Amino acid sequence: MTDRPNLFQPVKLGDLELPNRVLMAPLTRNRAQDDGTPVAMAETYYGQRASAGLIFTEATQVSAMGKGYIKTPGIYEQKHIDGWKKIVDSVHTNGGRIFMQLWHVGRISHTSLLPDGRNPVSSTDKAAEAMTYTHDGFEATSKPDALTEAGIRETVADFVIGAKAAKSAGFDGIEVHAANGYLLEQFLMDGVNDRTDAYGGSPENRLRIVNEILDAVSEIWPTNRIGIRLSPLGQFNDVTDSDPEAHFGYFIDELDKRGLGYLHMVEEAPGAETDAEQTAIMKRLRAKWSSFYIVNGGYTGNSAAQAVVEGHADAVAFGRAFIANPDLPKRLRLDATLNQGDSDTYYGGTEKGYIDYPFLDVSDPE
Ligand code: PHB
Repeated sequence: MTDRPNLFQPVKLGDLELPNRVLMAPLTRNRAQDDGTPVAMAETYYGQRASAGLIFTEATQVSAMGKGYIKTPGIYEQKHIDGWKKIVDSVHTNGGRIFMQLWHVGRISHTSLLPDGRNPVSSTDKAAEAMTYTHDGFEATSKPDALTEAGIRETVADFVIGAKAAKSAGFDGIEVHAANGYLLEQFLMDGVNDRTDAYGGSPENRLRIVNEILDAVSEIWPTNRIGIRLSPLGQFNDVTDSDPEAHFGYFIDELDKRGLGYLHMVEEAPGAETDAEQTAIMKRLRAKWSSFYIVNGGYTGNSAAQAVVEGHADAVAFGRAFIANPDLPKRLRLDATLNQGDSDTYYGGTEKGYIDYPFLDVSDPE
């Protein structure tokens, strides 16, 4: 048995007490109804994982235009609120805490998934070289329309709708998803954003939509119950930036001034591996953030404990390990064997691979 006190020491995120620093990362599972209402088995799924220091919901679209894959949930209609409220209650009843991740996919979508077969929207009118999953299987993403300034105002208003809906559903906070090649990162990164208006060009302009969203949702939530997710080195979903350290250095300096609850850093993108130079950049970017700092991507129990002990992170979000291990904090604390996830049931499907992973048997040796 390995002793890892620091990963299991309670900590405060703003005014919220977390019993440990093993957090559940946002995980797309594609099991919602076609209208975006979460399914009842999600109450069990999230409730089973309530021992996480904090749960982040799967990415959840703030509007019909924010959807990019089949069967992802929404948070903009009463039926969504009603469905999520039961999930939040399940987590709270089991002693947990849960933040909703507010999502807009931008150009990572397909006309068949959008209202009236509309084109996706983005910072640009150039299509991503990326795939999405539709009712017909994997398909190339559709060519987007560049948002007009009026369209940007509507999109900011959609995040407000999502933030209010999340509050009605009883969530403990919200996370603004500005990572992984989705809409907000399509504005942040200069390899995608080719605008010549107030939302493109300089880093200040590219950050503008994020600032407007954070200003707007801060009218609804206390600032310390709002977090943001970034992935400065990510190239997932066909994004690139010419100088991530300089540009995200500026973004982080600016965002840090707001007194947000936390910054949630994707250090290693889905399917990528981080090299020494990237690790060094992430360390320098980390030094710029003054409040709660969450890391995600490629962590094991040991490397997570080390990150917390060294002060690199206040908490670590686990993705795949939490899919397969509903009691992950306990298993890491006891250095117990981890269940292996079945990747065939990660995206879409039934209860199988969703709510049937076993908890540690009480008779298992500690
Ligand atoms: C996905 O649906 O594949 C997905 C969603 C959100 C992310 C990353 C991947 O941040």
